[in-house]
Amino acid sequence: MARYVGYRRPENTKKTLKKLMHYMGIHKWSLILVALLVLIGSGANIFGTYLLKPVINNYILPGDIPGLIKMVIFMGIMYLCGVLATWGYNQLMVHTAQKVVSEIRQDLFDHTQKLPLSYFDAHTHGELMSRFTNDVDTITEALNNSFAMMIQSFAMITGTITMILVLSVRLSLIVIAFLILMLVFIKFNGRRSRKYFSRQQKCLGSINGFVEEMVAGQKVEKVFNHEKQDFEEFCRRNEALRESSTKALTYSGMMVPTIVSLSYINYAVSACVGGLFVLQGWLDLGSLSSYLVYVRQSAMPFNQFTQQVNFLLAALAGAERIFDMMEIEPETDQGKVHLKDKGNREFVWEVPEEGGAIQEVPLKGDVRFHDVTFGYNKKKVVLSDISLYAKPGQKIAFVGSTGAGKTTITNLINRFYEIQQGTITYDGIDIRDICKDDLRRSLAMVIQDTHLFTGTIADNIRYGKLDATDEEVREAARIANADSFIRRLPHGYDTMLHSDGANLSQGQRQLLAIARAAIASPPVLILDEATSSIDTRTERLIEKGMDALMEGRTVFVIAHRLSTVRNSEAIMVLEQGKIIERGNHDDLLEQRGRYYQLYTGQFELE
Ligand SMILES: Nc1ncnc2c1ncn2[C@@H]1O[C@H](COP(=O)(O)OP(=O)(O)OP(=O)(O)O)[C@@H](O)[C@H]1O
Ligand SMILES: [Mg+2]
Repeated sequence: MARYVGYRRPENTKKTLKKLMHYMGIHKWSLILVALLVLIGSGANIFGTYLLKPVINNYILPGDIPGLIKMVIFMGIMYLCGVLATWGYNQLMVHTAQKVVSEIRQDLFDHTQKLPLSYFDAHTHGELMSRFTNDVDTITEALNNSFAMMIQSFAMITGTITMILVLSVRLSLIVIAFLILMLVFIKFNGRRSRKYFSRQQKCLGSINGFVEEMVAGQKVEKVFNHEKQDFEEFCRRNEALRESSTKALTYSGMMVPTIVSLSYINYAVSACVGGLFVLQGWLDLGSLSSYLVYVRQSAMPFNQFTQQVNFLLAALAGAERIFDMMEIEPETDQGKVHLKDKGNREFVWEVPEEGGAIQEVPLKGDVRFHDVTFGYNKKKVVLSDISLYAKPGQKIAFVGSTGAGKTTITNLINRFYEIQQGTITYDGIDIRDICKDDLRRSLAMVIQDTHLFTGTIADNIRYGKLDATDEEVREAARIANADSFIRRLPHGYDTMLHSDGANLSQGQRQLLAIARAAIASPPVLILDEATSSIDTRTERLIEKGMDALMEGRTVFVIAHRLSTVRNSEAIMVLEQGKIIERGNHDDLLEQRGRYYQLYTGQFELE
């Protein structure tokens, strides 16, 4: 059956093909063997058909029965070889194709992990996901089927045309005329159906996107009674899909019957004209018999070849998208300074010096910003001229209205994004000189939008320190005050969490995130609205536990709640990316500035 793919042709076919060849090259011997087996299979078919001529002319017509039997046995063996070769290349191709795509998938995943966060900001999840699903699938399809089929169809077409020319040049003109006719039809019809298939693909994408959004936004849909509008919108998209699919299938459905009919007419015409040739004595009966078999099997490879070209182009377009993504510059990391564990919870930075010596700088958690200016993109500056310092063991709080740039500051310490101007130092070392893995290992972060992974609660806490013992997991949970709610769950620490911890409350999710940071027990802690969904009483309890945890650690806290920040050594008030006030709680209240306004307006001061 004719199958089509709605596709975008690759923009740089040569380059993509070269890269794909690199992956295929790893398995070149298997692929060469596949090609050989394909050629053997097609050769057996072509040659077997040709043998009809001597069988009829030399054995059947003269009545040589023993010779005929020998010939039939020979032909049988040959066809058997053909069948074995076909079976062999199919099996081999399945294994090779799966290996190739699994290697591509692996490299893609590896590269995705190294991409800078700015890439994820600019691309939707659906887009990234489709690299791993749709695009990889088209490559699998093409390798599984198209690779061998293209070689086979090509061999069959050239073999058949050569053989009919050998058998009778004059008679071949009819076949060639019909083949040209078919080619024109395939091209015309293919263009039409491709147009509608790409439209169908687009409609399908639009329906998928709509359903995805609807599912994700279920609650909001219900709250605002949006069901009717959404249903109407869905029906509209559904109708567009129905229309384009119908047209696409109408055209593609015409393909096979038309080709088959044309090939029957071709066969009938060739048989009549061939018969006349035999009667005239221009052709012998044996040649005509094998000639007619060639005619019958000439149409399919033609059809197959053009279809496989489409598949291959679709696969190349998919491969191009994958390779494009793999070409995106990964996060840069020129850091040469590494963190060394000296045991007994003592860490040092190993700073290489000229001449190969290594200076050891103790890890304390001294973080300083020197005139830092940053924007997520060139158009808009988010932070300007930020200077601040946090001495080891200090608790620094950031407050300010929504969108002021609090989260952004913490993103920079972690080097999630690169700053445009200024420097950030960590224990006196420019953070750009520190190897990223080590930098991040020395910081624990509770981010504003907590993410929990599928796995047990214990697994999720252990994410902060993979080799943590059960006792350490419990201890961290106790510090975060999560222990009591966890123990009340039916399976305790072994409770499975699914889809980002949907079976927990917001506050419980935050407690787990704090436990995860606590278990990592790093010298610097960053808490971004970590306690925003937690009731004041629990927050007090956490604070007590945290006080022990914070002992000797530098902590950056971002909070809207006064109670969380008031005991900080320094409070920075941010407004539109600038620090407009700084000082401790009492100083700031005395100043009667923004801090005073921010909180007196919203909170009762004790
Ligand atoms: N990934 C991003 N890409 C582009 N712009 C961003 C991105 N994240 C934040 N911004 C912009 O940067 C500014 C500061 O955002 P930030 O998240 O730091 O605010 P915030 O102070 O943490 O606010 P909130 O209190 O709401 O958490 C905002 O204007 C926001 O639009
Ligand atoms: Mg924020």
